[in-house]
Amino acid sequence: TKYGMKIRDGIYLPNGVNNLSYSKNFKLRDDDIFLSSFPKSGTTWTNDLVWLITHNLDYERSKIENKFLWLDPGIPPNIIDDADSPRLFKNHLPLQFLPDDIQSEKIKKIYVVRNPKDMLVSTFHFYKKLVKDEFTGDFQNLIDLFEQGKTWYGPWWSHVNSFTKLPNTFIIMYEDLIKNAHKTIKSLGEFLGKNLTDSEIKFLIECTSFKKMKETEKEFKNDDRHVDKFKSDLVFFRKGEIGDWKNYFDEEMSKKVDDVVTNRLEFEVNFVYEN
Ligand code: PPS
Repeated sequence: TKYGMKIRDGIYLPNGVNNLSYSKNFKLRDDDIFLSSFPKSGTTWTNDLVWLITHNLDYERSKIENKFLWLDPGIPPNIIDDADSPRLFKNHLPLQFLPDDIQSEKIKKIYVVRNPKDMLVSTFHFYKKLVKDEFTGDFQNLIDLFEQGKTWYGPWWSHVNSFTKLPNTFIIMYEDLIKNAHKTIKSLGEFLGKNLTDSEIKFLIECTSFKKMKETEKEFKNDDRHVDKFKSDLVFFRKGEIGDWKNYFDEEMSKKVDDVVTNRLEFEVNFVYEN
């Protein structure tokens, strides 16, 4: 395996993805909520927003408990079956590895998309930190892998194309969250059946700001109650900005990604390019 990866059904997956039959074969409930994304697109941020919105904006509790059921490593069926409703699931796994019933109109899905160029810069730092012995390449190598659909979780375009076509899906753009936070969070709330007031939205923006989330991560990193030790590397809170790609891409790399967007993406992402 290369880059701490293994290949299943032609898809490159991290070594930590261990039990695909667990992720595929479980019974859904009508009130399940799925949060799906290609890595480094804004998952952690959206996770906190969705958790807070579905838990009465209980910020203190969220600091240690804001956990979704993380499907990728494979959760044993009894844990999935015993979880309280509404169950919150999170995954980077491509659609074909999830239960077929996710296609149902009844199940709420949230999908996060980010400008692939910024996503790639974020991915580069992530690989360099977490799988540096396996990924020894430079940024150019990463762009080539991206173009071949060989970064973790397979082709980015197939991922986006498949999830954005599902019914009952709220598509959240990282850039929208930064530029139009109020409007985006209001709509997210409506999707989740909550009519958030202006002051509640303001509160949500404050407690999920990049600075605040990063500080909380540091503060709780040595707390035994902390839900996710893995996060404590702080690789989940690097820069938190739009447009950092301009510091990494040359014209040729940029064109490669533009071509992917133009020729293979079936989802309209014009917004993403208005920097
Ligand atoms: S992962 O590993 O897939 O779960 O990573 P993910 O959370 O999807 O993406 C990580 C990037 O999101 C940035 N981030 C934020 N930006 C703005 N505000 C908040 N609150 C926030 N939280 C996380 C994080 O810094 C990563 O992007 P980069 O560009 O590397 O900074």
